Amino acid sequence: MSNMAKLELDGNRYEIPTVTGSEGERAIALGSLRDATGYITLDEGYANTGSCQSAITFIDGERGILRYRGVPIEDLAEQSSFIETAYLIIYGNLPTRAQLRRFSELLTDNENLHEDMKYHFEGFPSTAHPMAILSAMINASSCFYPGLNGPRNPERFDIHAARLISQVRTIAAFSYRKSRGLPIIYPKRSYKYTANFLHMMFSDPYDDYELKPEVVKALDLIFLLHADHEQNCSTATVRMVASSQANLFACAAAGVCALWGPLHGGANQAVVEMLQEIHRSGDDGSRFVAAAKDKTSGKRLMGFGHRVYKQYDPRAKIIKRACDRLLDSMRIDDPLLDIAKHLEAAALQDPYFIERRLYPNVDFYSGIIMRAVGIPIEMFTVIFAIGRMPGWIANFKEIMDDPRSRIYRPRQLYTGPTARPYVPVDQRGT
Ligand code: ACO
Repeated sequence: MSNMAKLELDGNRYEIPTVTGSEGERAIALGSLRDATGYITLDEGYANTGSCQSAITFIDGERGILRYRGVPIEDLAEQSSFIETAYLIIYGNLPTRAQLRRFSELLTDNENLHEDMKYHFEGFPSTAHPMAILSAMINASSCFYPGLNGPRNPERFDIHAARLISQVRTIAAFSYRKSRGLPIIYPKRSYKYTANFLHMMFSDPYDDYELKPEVVKALDLIFLLHADHEQNCSTATVRMVASSQANLFACAAAGVCALWGPLHGGANQAVVEMLQEIHRSGDDGSRFVAAAKDKTSGKRLMGFGHRVYKQYDPRAKIIKRACDRLLDSMRIDDPLLDIAKHLEAAALQDPYFIERRLYPNVDFYSGIIMRAVGIPIEMFTVIFAIGRMPGWIANFKEIMDDPRSRIYRPRQLYTGPTARPYVPVDQRGT
């Protein structure tokens, strides 16, 4: 029998049902509170609000646990690939060989953009941020697949999902080439997902980019580690848009916009900019840590802190190791890595960060890997978006498959003026 929460309000007593998740997480089901009591719940920034029930990703921020469909992130990072993990996240189980082959074929068959899409790239100035291009072009792609709109069809979903995962990578590479005035490089059927991305980014028409296995592996790992993260700002946005039954591409374009901000996916770019600023100023990081603690400085230690993790983000641990490995194997000595390690050590001993339980998050070291791979800084958040696509698609699917889905429509507590008359303009003073 479910545990009932008891509430006493305005002299009345109410019993409110509770719900328990598969990992023992508990929630008070407040959906009918307003009908019963006339009160709404108020939780600005949703720090304590479960907006949905979801079977995709489990996070225990206190213990630093992250699992996709029950499989620990550490195991996936060690043994899986981005594409296998994408299948797991979207369809719920690790694929058999045959399922993985079919999924890979669907990705390859749908990797080319509609040829007319190329004209859309012409309209952007060379200074356009690639996240703006990415979101606009994902939305533009939806115009070429009219079947996306209208009744939802599970068979078409497989194709649309594969198309989105595959094409987002093609769009990202095209937008980079365009911003540099370089000719567009088409995908190669024989290459796997991440190798193909590097090929489209860095090959020349008559000179193929040399694919180094350690580089392909490091970038594939970055995609994998970003593949889902339950109800963060962008995924919650995707679900919000999906709840109105907008099409998959429109939902993903909205997700890209939400991800762009520096407090979310944009943090990986902000981290490297911060490290560059520290390097340029000759600081070893100590001055910056002091400024990050001073609320009037307008600075934060980017790549530190997380709404859910109150200890080391498990992805940050994996990325830090991968970063050391890649830089060693490429024999790169990046001063920014030294500064990052120094900052981390200083912050982890500092009472300000200890008391607030602020630890490195996924973005703290990922930018240093991307620099080593040769990804330009303005593309960092795009890389995050490519990685996050399976998570957004899985969340979209969860809404689509749930016959009880309702439109997301939060309430608010109004704090504006109370009713007042309309004053004609000639009576409003000067
Ligand atoms: N540097 C300095 N102080 C910080 C930092 C930081 N990076 N993060 C949080 N704090 C402080 C806040 O000032 C606040 O202090 P106070 O209690 O004295 O007022 C306290 O820690 C709690 O911080 P909030 O902003 O309330 O935490 P919230 O959960 O709202 O924000 C966030 C989480 C946005 C990630 C925040 O920690 C931050 O801005 N970090 C830097 C940006 C970043 O790395 N973002 C990437 C997040 S991971 C991701 O999206 C993939």
